[in-house]
Amino acid sequence: MAKLRVQYACQECGATQVKWMGRCPSCGGWNTLQEEAAAEDSPARGQALPVEAPAAVSLDEVAEAPVPRFTTGLAEVDRVLGGGLVPGSLVLLGGDPGVGKSTLVLQACAGLAASGRKVLYASGEESVQQVHLRARRLGVLSPGIRLVAETQWEKVAACASAEACGVLVVDSIQTLFSSDLPASPGTVSQVRECAVRLMALAKSRNLPVFLIGHVTKDGSLAGPRVLEHLVDAVLTLEGDADHSFRMLRASKNRFGNTRELGLFEMREQGLAQVSNPSEYLLRQRGLAQPGACAMASLEGSRPLLVEVQALVTASHEGAARRSSAGVDPWRLNLLYAVLEKRCGIPLHQQDVFVSVAGGFRLQEPAADLALAAAVSSSLRDQALPRQWIVFGEVGLGGEVRPVKQTGLRLKEAARFGFKHAVVPWAEGREAEEWKGLGIAAHPVKELGEALAALWQAG
Ligand code: TYD
Ligand code: MG
Repeated sequence: MAKLRVQYACQECGATQVKWMGRCPSCGGWNTLQEEAAAEDSPARGQALPVEAPAAVSLDEVAEAPVPRFTTGLAEVDRVLGGGLVPGSLVLLGGDPGVGKSTLVLQACAGLAASGRKVLYASGEESVQQVHLRARRLGVLSPGIRLVAETQWEKVAACASAEACGVLVVDSIQTLFSSDLPASPGTVSQVRECAVRLMALAKSRNLPVFLIGHVTKDGSLAGPRVLEHLVDAVLTLEGDADHSFRMLRASKNRFGNTRELGLFEMREQGLAQVSNPSEYLLRQRGLAQPGACAMASLEGSRPLLVEVQALVTASHEGAARRSSAGVDPWRLNLLYAVLEKRCGIPLHQQDVFVSVAGGFRLQEPAADLALAAAVSSSLRDQALPRQWIVFGEVGLGGEVRPVKQTGLRLKEAARFGFKHAVVPWAEGREAEEWKGLGIAAHPVKELGEALAALWQAG
């Protein structure tokens, strides 16, 4: 029998080393290497066996095959998947513990079962009783959802084929292990190996698979970043403990674009879809106070109105404090610098706190202008005019850069009663389109100009 070879695998990036090191030379992570048994090289490897040549096809002769899709019954999930679940796809759903991954998938399973698909839910985290309790709470006690509490891959696979299921859920990948590998569950080699086998199962049986995975504090899927390369789609459920708002994003999708956002609210009976997000987010809007500014964001194909808030107070400590929720802190620091340097607004002795109403996360640079207006408003202690909405990207020189779909954003703002909008400057046809939307657009080229327009109005 061959001697068992040992290797050291980085639990973050999956790179393997022959000896232990304090720092992974591949991703730079500290203390991430862990001893694991190496997979045996098969003696046949490299000795090519005679195979039949597969037939290649000309690029222009490929027959178009429409991608079939199963609806999950949740339009917000279907949207992020690119129009529904694709047969044979392996979909990874990541998120912090407790954010609602199991809840979301169980609700999606109910929708899939309702359209006649037999679902097998393999739970390694919870007992069948616990899953049953959750399903009862959600009101989805469907006979089409079959449960098995199992963590061994071989048994899950056997069960999937015995049940002849049409959808498989594995909750979670970190609890799954294959008895072929000596490594413990959750280690990078187990996670990778199980994912490879799940992928093979998904493809060979044209079986859609949902794979749930936890996320580490730094935001990567626990340990196995390798997983993200393997699967067809990576969805992440975001949200914080203080808010009931949840966002589903795709960071990878082989069957759709990754810009669409699914929105939910966690309620007593599970996740409720937020199909009118502007209304939902504007309901979270505070009073007309200094430091609040409404902004029109675009998430995928959908415009979305949200309020950003800033609080600027004189700093009594050595270094001014900066903190933010829902906005990239690096981008904010850049904005503060631009406000100081280009608009002469002194912030170096001010503490600045920024947040987005409702627990929403703004990822778009189009938020820059609204954030700058909110900061300036709080510093002046003067509220911005209530019926104004602001959006645009701000460059390092203080210039306001165009954003996508200004017309669509204006239309949404008009729908919610906004009368004026500060927008990036445009000319010709684009500016023509803004007319007749029931909202007055005030195009600006520079940050200073935008602030001046707001103060003149207010
Ligand atoms: P869960 O789906 O178990 O999270 P995850 O699988 O991501 O760890 O959801 C956990 C949280 O959601 C838990 O704190 C309770 C809350 N919750 C509700 O508020 N309403 C519900 O109907 C359900 C099922 C859960
Ligand atoms: Mg769970």
